Order: sequence, then C-alpha cells, then structure tokens
Amino acid sequence: MNESNVPEEIAENAISPNIDPPKDSKAIRPEPSNLFEKNPIDLDALRTLEGQNILKAGQFSFEQVTELCKLAAVLEKIEIWPFHPLDGKIVVTAFFEASTRTRTSFESSILRLDGKVISITDGKSTGQAKGESLADIGEMFNAYADLVVMRHTETDAPDQILENLRIPLINAGNGSGEHPTQALADWYALLKWRPELASPRVEGDPRMNLGILGTPGSMRAVKSFLLMALLFKDHIGKVTVISEMADPFGEEVTQQLTEADIDYEVSNDVREHLPELDVIYMNSIAFLGDSYKKMDSRFKLTSKSPIKDSAVILHPLARLDELDTSLDKTPHNLYFSQAHGAVFIRQALLMAVLGRLKALPNLIDLGHMTSS
Ligand code: CP
Repeated sequence: MNESNVPEEIAENAISPNIDPPKDSKAIRPEPSNLFEKNPIDLDALRTLEGQNILKAGQFSFEQVTELCKLAAVLEKIEIWPFHPLDGKIVVTAFFEASTRTRTSFESSILRLDGKVISITDGKSTGQAKGESLADIGEMFNAYADLVVMRHTETDAPDQILENLRIPLINAGNGSGEHPTQALADWYALLKWRPELASPRVEGDPRMNLGILGTPGSMRAVKSFLLMALLFKDHIGKVTVISEMADPFGEEVTQQLTEADIDYEVSNDVREHLPELDVIYMNSIAFLGDSYKKMDSRFKLTSKSPIKDSAVILHPLARLDELDTSLDKTPHNLYFSQAHGAVFIRQALLMAVLGRLKALPNLIDLGHMTSS
C-alpha cells in the first residue's frame, strides 16, 4: 500500500505526475485521496445518473456531486485503463463552438477509459453548414454512438437536438445557458482543497465566503458554478457577485437564490472584497460577445492584489487580462488544478451515465466504495 491506501499494482499514478506544477511554482495541487480515504464512495448515488441527460447544474443532488467527486479522486490516483470501463462504447463530441479544455478533456477521459470517440470539432463540417436541423442530426447520432457531448452557440441547442436524440446528451456549454460539467470540475477542485465540503457542515466549522466575477444571468460557467454552490450553502457564509450590471442574475437565478435563502450581495469592485474572500471565481469577462472589452482594475487580479493569504482562485479559462499570469506560481492558483482535474470528474460522470461503474469491482473490494 502507498500513502493513499490504493494498492501499488493499480496505483501506477501514470497521469498525475504530468500535472504537478513546475518545481519553482507554489501553485496548489490538493491531494485527491483526502476526499475518499475516510469516506467510502456510495455507488448507489451514482447509479441514479445512468442513462440521464446532463443539462444543468441544478439537476444534481448534493450526494451525486460529492460521490462523483470522490470517484474522480480515486480515478486520479489510479491507472484506470486496464479495467476498460468504456470498452465498446462510442461517444460523439459535437462542438459547434470553439473549445480548448472541454472537448479535449472529454476526449482524453473517454480514450483513457478505453472508449472510442467520434470528434466533431467544428459545426461547419456537419450538415448544419447546409442548413440541416439539430433535430435531424440528433436522429442520426442515435445510430452512430452511445452518448453525445455537445457544445453550441445557441442556448436552446440541447432542446433542439433532444427532439429526436434518444441516447444521453451531456451539455458542454449552450450559448448563455449552462456549463454543468464545468461546475463539476470547479467543485471537484474545491472539494479536493477542502474535503470537509463533501460532508454536512459540523457546527463550529468556518464557512467560506465566495466572490464571483461576472454575470450569472448571461455567463454560462458563472451561472452553473453559482447554482451548484447552492448545494453547499451550509458551508458558505456569503456570496459576493462582482459585476458591472446592477442586476447580474436574471429571473431564474434570482428565484433560486431566494429559494435557497443564501446571503448574497452585488458589487462593482473586487478590490473592496478581497480581504474577506476565501474563494474567488473569475471568468472570461474580458470577452464580450465577439469583441474584446478593456478591463479596469475593479475587475482584475494580479499578484499585487490584496488577496487573503489562504484564498484560492478558480477560473474556467480561457483568460485574458482579468487574471494576470503573475498569479500562476502563487498558492492562490487553484485554476490549473481545476482544469487538470476535469479529466477525472468527466471520467466519473461518463462511467455513471453509461452504466459502467461495474468496471470497478476491485475498488469496491478495497473498501473505497459501498454498494448495496
Ligand atoms: N472551460 C471551458 O469551457 O474551456 P473551453 O472553452 O476551452 O472548453
């Protein structure tokens, strides 16, 4: 046994060394095993995801998110391909909008699970360029694959393809709608950093103050992060949203914040709040549609910003001026761990949705998992 309690023969750790920060960096890479060692994974909670479409952050329960994160942590510690979890499964990654991380991390996840990928990297290579409807494309995908991961510029694209799609759909970002698997990657990074978030809050434990830069009403990653945060509301002191807009939420998010009865405020200057924030969620706010927006220091972070010593920064990336590279080698940098961890949380999700949790019998025997 090694220090993570995973037997040596499957703890080859073939992936993790590649995501260690450079030697001269103080960027944090929290230890995954802290998430599952004292807390066995409840496979029954994950089985509820089998065959489901994954469309919004709000569709997940607290148990589904925390158990996915625990399974991701196990997957981050072991070499999984010898178990061939997705053997015989084909996934279409249909990206009708540009992506660096989401498509390649999904494809890496699938390939490392021994599944196969049909990769559409640009909508122009599909019949959409000739006017074909997403509904018709969905009908075709039924015959070609077992699951579709789709990103699209249009917010109602999931509704359109689901008119005919009868295999599971994972929404990888839909216009100004949602980005639920980004929220899973965000919260996986946070749960590795603070494993106590995966359990009900113990009286006396400190609560985190979250700062979110952006407009949840129209920025999909911000919206999904905030809506998933509501599952962890007992661990949260206050949410501060820093936005240029007086009402950055819109009707749907406002209603959910109100129902959750969470303490929140809106501000237009991050500098005023930095000393009290424990987690700062940045976003690509320098992009505005197709244009580039000049940012001022109210919405920017650099290594000179008065950030609390223990605070961490998340950013779904890509970044522009809002997140200075001077922060990359500081202990505030959780954003690279967040991006790297996306491979494992997406593996956990794919295995659950495709009904392949049974490919892990050895891990159940190890006591890392419970199963009725
Ligand atoms: N976080 C994210 O969605 O990045 P990509 O646009 O590169 O996929």
